[in-house]
Amino acid sequence: MSDSTKSMMNKICVVTGATSGIGLETAKSLALKGAFVIVVGRNKKKCSATVKQIRQLTEASLVDYVCADLSDLKQVYHLAKILKEKYDRIDVLVNNAGAYFKSQRYESVDGYEMTFALNYLSPFLLTSLLIDLLKESDQGRIINVSSDAHYKGTIQLDDLQSKQGYNGFNAYAQSKLALVLFTYELARRLKSTNITVNALHPGLVATNFGKNNGWLRFYIRRLVMRNEIKASEGSTTSIYLATSPDVANITGSYFIDEKQVKSSEDSYDQKLATQLWEVGEILTNIPT
Ligand SMILES: NC(=O)c1ccc[n+]([C@@H]2O[C@H](COP(=O)([O-])OP(=O)(O)OC[C@H]3O[C@@H](n4cnc5c(N)ncnc54)[C@H](OP(=O)(O)O)[C@@H]3O)[C@@H](O)[C@H]2O)c1
Repeated sequence: MSDSTKSMMNKICVVTGATSGIGLETAKSLALKGAFVIVVGRNKKKCSATVKQIRQLTEASLVDYVCADLSDLKQVYHLAKILKEKYDRIDVLVNNAGAYFKSQRYESVDGYEMTFALNYLSPFLLTSLLIDLLKESDQGRIINVSSDAHYKGTIQLDDLQSKQGYNGFNAYAQSKLALVLFTYELARRLKSTNITVNALHPGLVATNFGKNNGWLRFYIRRLVMRNEIKASEGSTTSIYLATSPDVANITGSYFIDEKQVKSSEDSYDQKLATQLWEVGEILTNIPT
């Protein structure tokens, strides 16, 4: 690869959920562009296999991993601690890890509904804990992988944990709307800093997404969803937001196919964003 394509040389990029699908393709592409990539995954074997794959691909050892189950807030705190001990700066944080729990309500070890814990509280907490490292970058970028499911989401402030009747899609849509609200609120709070924060929908992508809901359902979906794109295509907007000079000064936006688009009406509700932020602080026990 020629030097001109190595536009991310000397950049330190953290990608959560980098052991599969969109996150794996994002991590590979950032490494190919010369970045030092930190793979975050919950499975040690999968993390080392990912690191090996990236090393072979790039013929360089510009890759590391940290293992953490991101649905467990203690592990998110520990992950941030390790990153702070090992690195004095982060240039790009891609909050990509996420899942959908279709028919059953699970609880995280902290007693929170699993979708809300993994898709929302975890990136909320991790980002908050890493802000100081992102401030050390010349131009820090935070990329939140949301979903077009957020358009159908509502924030149930009186039942964020879906205790009053569980519907997997509603829980997923709520978590992804919460992530967009967080993106916009964080952009407002970081206005006078060198950090940008944006959210995106990756498209309908053929990955391991949904496999946790049963193999049969997963393969039926695969057969029905013939319009799914490959994970490499599904990662293009994440990579664009992480690397392109075109978006160096764009913050607080929602992207599909590398283009800024309008997100749901609720996502622009500043009062709701502040309320959600305050609840997030309490639930994650962030020191103020
Ligand atoms: N695929 C789509 O059509 C689609 C559409 C819209 C939005 N998205 C979003 O795109 C993101 C990536 O999903 P994907 O499609 O690439 O799915 P995927 O192939 O299932 O990848 C999800 C990644 O998240 C990791 N992960 C899951 N639970 C975790 C936990 N508790 N702790 C740490 N890591 C965990 C997975 O780790 P393992 O490898 O160990 O499972 C995997 O690396 C998600 O946020 C998803 O909501 C996907």
